[in-house]
Amino acid sequence: MFQVAETKDGSRTLINTALNQSFHSMHGALQESEHVFIKQGFHYFLSRFAPSRLRIFEMGYGTGLNAMLTYLSAKSSCIEVTYTAVEAFPVGLDTARVLNYSTIPGLSPELVEKFHLFDSNGVALPDKDFKIRMYNTLFDQVTVAPETIDVVYYDAFSPGAQPELWTSEALKKCFDMLNKPGVWVTYSSKGDVRRALTSVGFLVEKIPGPAGKREMLRALKL
Ligand SMILES: C[S@@+](CC[C@H](N)C(=O)[O-])C[C@H]1O[C@@H](n2cnc3c(N)ncnc32)[C@H](O)[C@@H]1O
Repeated sequence: MFQVAETKDGSRTLINTALNQSFHSMHGALQESEHVFIKQGFHYFLSRFAPSRLRIFEMGYGTGLNAMLTYLSAKSSCIEVTYTAVEAFPVGLDTARVLNYSTIPGLSPELVEKFHLFDSNGVALPDKDFKIRMYNTLFDQVTVAPETIDVVYYDAFSPGAQPELWTSEALKKCFDMLNKPGVWVTYSSKGDVRRALTSVGFLVEKIPGPAGKREMLRALKL
């Protein structure tokens, strides 16, 4: 079901062969994650709202790249992060090992493995200061308490491939889990997604996207 592919910045990604969808932009997996989720989500929230800790929810954990980059940024920003994620089809340790994320400065093969080692409660502890709570199920099966999340990384496959994950019903679920202020980010800039976000109460902005993509969406709950 997964095929490994090299992207333009040298970082690897996976292709879901059943859906014919890559997990990241072929213009660069690393640069896309860093731009969309870390710069425009994580650092945006920190610089705008100066929180004392950050609670992140990721839709579609996949390779764990967003979690690893968040861990590195949390360390360098000295901020405590709680990371919750949902993934219906975990990639598994063997697949994770063939990705080259351990070459990212600050990571190592041992550390990368820890992002894919979950105990029976769905908890991974790559570092004593970085805990991940994983729900190994479909997004619509997850219950997240209202107003307990600061930033949502919305990293589903594209609206064309998975329309059910981009409906106003799915996006309302994100709106409800977010605290005020809350930030939701995705790589997509589709008009239908923007309108669905607005319809559930978000203030939506189109902002510059990562290399190879003119725009992306950031939605605010204020
Ligand atoms: C675009 S990839 C995400 C990539 C991931 N964030 C990463 O950095 O590797 C989409 C991910 O969502 C997962 N997924 C697809 N449908 C899902 C659903 N209904 N519920 C939960 N996860 C889902 C896929 O298995 C895949 O790992």
